[in-house]
Amino acid sequence: MTEAQLCPICKNPRKSSSYGSLTQWIVACNCDVKDLEAVEEERPSAIEMCRTCGKRIGEGRAGSFTQFIFRADVCRCSVPKPLRDALDAAPPVDVRIVVDEIDEQPLSLGATSFPMDRYKPLAQLGAGAGGSVYLAQDRFLNKQVAVKMLHMLEAKQLVAFQEEARANSRLNHPNIVGILDFGLTGDEVPYMVLDYFQGSTLEKVLDQQGPLNWSATQNIFVQTCNALAYAHQNGVFHRDIKPSNLLLLDNGAGGVDVRIIDFGIAKISSPDKEHAQSGEQLLAGAPIYMSPDEGLGLPYDGRSEVYSLGCVIFECLTGRPPFVGENAYQTLSMHATDTPPHLVDVRPDGNFPPALEALVARTLAKRPEDRFASMLDLRQAIQDIDPNDSLAKPIDVEQKQNASHIVAIKTTATIFIITAIGFLAAQSMVKPHLPSRKETEEKQQLARKTAAYHKNEQDINDIKTNVILDELNLTGGGWNREEPTMIEGHEVTDEDFKKLKDLDNVQNFKVTMESKVSGVGFKYIPQAKFQSILIMSHMFNDEGAEYLSKIKTITRLCFHYDNLMTPKGMKLLVDGLPEMRTLQLRFMELKPGMIRTLKGAKKLNTVDLGHSHGLTKEALHDLAEVRSLKVLTLTNAGIDDEAIEILSKLPNISHMDINENQLSDEGLMLLGRKMKNLRSLKTTVAGKLTSLGVKRFEKLRPDVKVSIGEDGTSKLIQMLQQQ
Ligand code: ADE
Repeated sequence: MTEAQLCPICKNPRKSSSYGSLTQWIVACNCDVKDLEAVEEERPSAIEMCRTCGKRIGEGRAGSFTQFIFRADVCRCSVPKPLRDALDAAPPVDVRIVVDEIDEQPLSLGATSFPMDRYKPLAQLGAGAGGSVYLAQDRFLNKQVAVKMLHMLEAKQLVAFQEEARANSRLNHPNIVGILDFGLTGDEVPYMVLDYFQGSTLEKVLDQQGPLNWSATQNIFVQTCNALAYAHQNGVFHRDIKPSNLLLLDNGAGGVDVRIIDFGIAKISSPDKEHAQSGEQLLAGAPIYMSPDEGLGLPYDGRSEVYSLGCVIFECLTGRPPFVGENAYQTLSMHATDTPPHLVDVRPDGNFPPALEALVARTLAKRPEDRFASMLDLRQAIQDIDPNDSLAKPIDVEQKQNASHIVAIKTTATIFIITAIGFLAAQSMVKPHLPSRKETEEKQQLARKTAAYHKNEQDINDIKTNVILDELNLTGGGWNREEPTMIEGHEVTDEDFKKLKDLDNVQNFKVTMESKVSGVGFKYIPQAKFQSILIMSHMFNDEGAEYLSKIKTITRLCFHYDNLMTPKGMKLLVDGLPEMRTLQLRFMELKPGMIRTLKGAKKLNTVDLGHSHGLTKEALHDLAEVRSLKVLTLTNAGIDDEAIEILSKLPNISHMDINENQLSDEGLMLLGRKMKNLRSLKTTVAGKLTSLGVKRFEKLRPDVKVSIGEDGTSKLIQMLQQQ
């Protein structure tokens, strides 16, 4: 029983119905109610805070003005999760993942409120303020997935949902739960489909086991930092970092793998961006883990997430987050003005080396510039603290929080708090938006378009046999071989290639961006018969390309992010790999002359230059010379009408993705007139490319399946809203 469940006077169980029925206890409190109220006034700690939403559990003090103000501050989670008293917990432990038995029962969800046609709901995995998550069977792919239903109806929120889901679905990292699909049900309930992982959230682990030791904490947060660093590099912020969003999986080798869930969802449940830019508050995440800068409405960046992660690290080591006020308002105020406690303040029995105390203090610095500058810096600092070394080198922490800064924060905090209360109140009092019939019909039409878009994406992905980009399980650094046909190197070097054995059946090979691989390591595995290669290492170079070009079985070659390879290396690959059919050069600065080397690739039919820069006029002319091309993906690659004119010389293009580019209606018509073999086209409706232009294109080319990207869908929803 927790402290809050006992009477503060007699220490017997309380009578209050909120803690169970009287008959449940043999001895119950009989103290005078008035005495109790007086004690409660002096004992703010009797108020329990919900860890999920950071709001108080229960109604607060009846009749007071503060009760009125903070009504919006009362936890509304379907299952409130009280924060434990840290000192009740057992000594720090190694992490043990206890996977809950899933009780698969028929769920009575309606076809219009759940995407039934494709996903069969099996069990509810969880429910929170933002929505409910279900375990479901994907009838199409015949695998288990997690379907997150979001409880939102506002058209503005739908726009945010689609934008976020689109941004997040681009994230592809082993420590991030990937979005497989998203859309609206017939009842316009937005949903996301995610890879399903059997595991336990960090929140549950902390509840069951209490604080973790440094070795377990270090492992969890190195992986978390890697994932967040990757997301930040791709311009995506999580915005709701908390223990319930870190899924921990037993990797079967005595370790734990982390999967971050709910990427960017918090933003969806916040007011629109215009408000944010004009200075109004977004209270996107849980106040318990919210940085002072976010709380104060200052620009949100990677350092805001460093702070939130610092709060989670603190909780992981001590069992309690650094700041817990009586209500969300007070918690935010503490973040803004209170000096963070030391780890040892909360766990006097803990053995925290100075370097660890310094690390945590630096993550929790009030000013973003006093924190670690990036997730990679934080990761390095975490890695540098040896679990066995209590005398580890202290980090240089400059606690520059001088008095005047704190005064400034206090003033701003007061202003902010007023707005925050307004927002919290508005959140609970907001009237549901009831769409008109016209709105409903048009949105349903949009939902169908979105579905078609994804179907098309699936088709194209099938052509590309896009297996290697799938979510993979990692065990920290080293080689991972979850499936016999697939190997992934994480934080590996060329020397590590010597350890690779039994490569007979391996078709897919990948090295992640944390690896330091030049490619020379391929000389140690001449027996490899890989078909699909993905290299994300920044150190890959021409010498490596020479060794890679010896693996004659390669049909699919992917480079993501910049590396050191020049056109010379690319030419070695093109000439040396006669079976190469697919080439991806994504998220790169394309070096001059790089595309020219593709001219000699006889069987190359699929090229993806998504999100790469440097597709100059010259490079476009070179691309137009690769006559064998059939599938061309140029998402966000700077394509305009002139580029279309140049590329329209390609005779065999059947699938083209020109999402997020700068062409106009005329450019689209030009493409329609010239690319006679085109069968499917993906495009966003934005800028000079209008929905009218798309209609004209469809009239001109009824044989082409057009899918509108989410940018366009969002725009249409926005238009509907303005009508
Ligand atoms: N809870 C929320 N998302 C989940 C997922 N993808 N897998 C398992 N549990 C989850």
